[in-house]
Amino acid sequence: MMIETMKITVLGSGYVGLVTGVCFADKGHEVFCVDIDPEKVKTINNGKSPIYEPTLDEILKKNIKSGNIKAFLANDFYSKKIDTDISFICVPTPSNENGSINLGFIKSASLDLGNYIKNMKRYHVVVVKSTVVPGTTDSVVLPILEEQSKKKVGEDFGLCMNPEFLREGSAVGDFLNPDKIVLGSIDKKSGNILERVYEPWKKIPRIKTNLRTAEMIKYAQNSFLATKISFINEIANICQRVGVDAKDVSYAIGLDPRISPRFLRFGVGYGGSCFPKDVKALISTSEQVGYTPSLLKSVVEVNERQPLEALKMAENLKGKTVSILGLSFKPDTDDIRESPSIKLIEELQKHDTVIKAYDPKAVKNMKKLFPEIIYTDSPLESLKDSDVCFVMTEWKEIKELGPRDFLNSMRTPLVIDGRRVFNPEEKKKSGVVYKGIGYGLS
Ligand code: UDX
Repeated sequence: MMIETMKITVLGSGYVGLVTGVCFADKGHEVFCVDIDPEKVKTINNGKSPIYEPTLDEILKKNIKSGNIKAFLANDFYSKKIDTDISFICVPTPSNENGSINLGFIKSASLDLGNYIKNMKRYHVVVVKSTVVPGTTDSVVLPILEEQSKKKVGEDFGLCMNPEFLREGSAVGDFLNPDKIVLGSIDKKSGNILERVYEPWKKIPRIKTNLRTAEMIKYAQNSFLATKISFINEIANICQRVGVDAKDVSYAIGLDPRISPRFLRFGVGYGGSCFPKDVKALISTSEQVGYTPSLLKSVVEVNERQPLEALKMAENLKGKTVSILGLSFKPDTDDIRESPSIKLIEELQKHDTVIKAYDPKAVKNMKKLFPEIIYTDSPLESLKDSDVCFVMTEWKEIKELGPRDFLNSMRTPLVIDGRRVFNPEEKKKSGVVYKGIGYGLS
């Protein structure tokens, strides 16, 4: 398909920036990735992705070869005075202690872009892709851009907000095949220019709206999904206490298309770089404007309790050897941010336990947080001579463990299933004691 090629700057080559840049390049645009980390820039220009994400490496390599994408150190890029049509801000917005988002990177990216567009002849559009709370683009980014560039938004340059909805592990697929494209803009002209970038995504529904609404859509979506998970976790906790198998309940209600089976898996709770941060940021924003978001506060409360629900099932833990299977916040990633395993380890350490942990990808990251615990190369090694095992992430090799593996390796075969990977009915006569969130069996 022939498209009108646009020159695109992408600020920040992290998860979102790199996937965005690579996918735009693959659709035929000319992309300039700008980052402050020289190692990252070098790696990208060598056709290698600094992050692990299925298919990203191949598409990156292909587009580095064709010249559609190139990475630059920020200072190098700005000194070269390469004029582009549009810039995407894809820098991190980490959490502050109180749950609000830290806008440090957004502010410095805006400063750089203000200087960048100062002497630019062509009409340039700045797009915020980072997740920012409603009001940030027009009350934080806009004044910095105008102040630095001495130009006027709407007359000399454009401004948009275009949130991302990428899941780790399927980010490239999510980008190439989204369910919607949200195009928030300060005016029609900016919105139309942003829409031209998405020309190759012709059939995807577009939501053309203002900046604040675009910002809010992202928070509403992630908060809803987090709510769904905390809801089913609460139902599972109740099921547990009234002797009901929550799996049947979750399956049955999921058949109603108004509910849908997706994001209805109960367990030790949600983690990752988005849900925990986004729900807390929306709570913080809401409180700042005088509204107490009781439902969202409960979503967080339930989620923070879920690892403890699993812990309670072990009863007397003092001096025990504990095997933890799964450290990442979900399978197929090495990311441990806000992983429920972190909370479990912290609690276990209060009980004077020996911890033997296994994860196929996330050990390196967890070692930075807990260098003192034992890490093993296989699930069986982790199980060896342990008194209790917690299943925290549903990796394939963990799901495939059978009663024999537990019986042969553990000192006392007690398995606490935090992700409902085993079927309690089937396992009843195995000689292994299986317990788990939502099992509903004593
Ligand atoms: C999420 C959103 O899905 C994505 O759209 C957003 O932009 C970024 O955040 P991600 O964090 O990569 O993506 O993971 P996701 O697959 O959504 O899972 C998040 C957490 O919820 C994981 O810890 C997962 O284990 C948990 N989860 C998910 C459940 O506990 N139950 C479910 O049914 C689904």
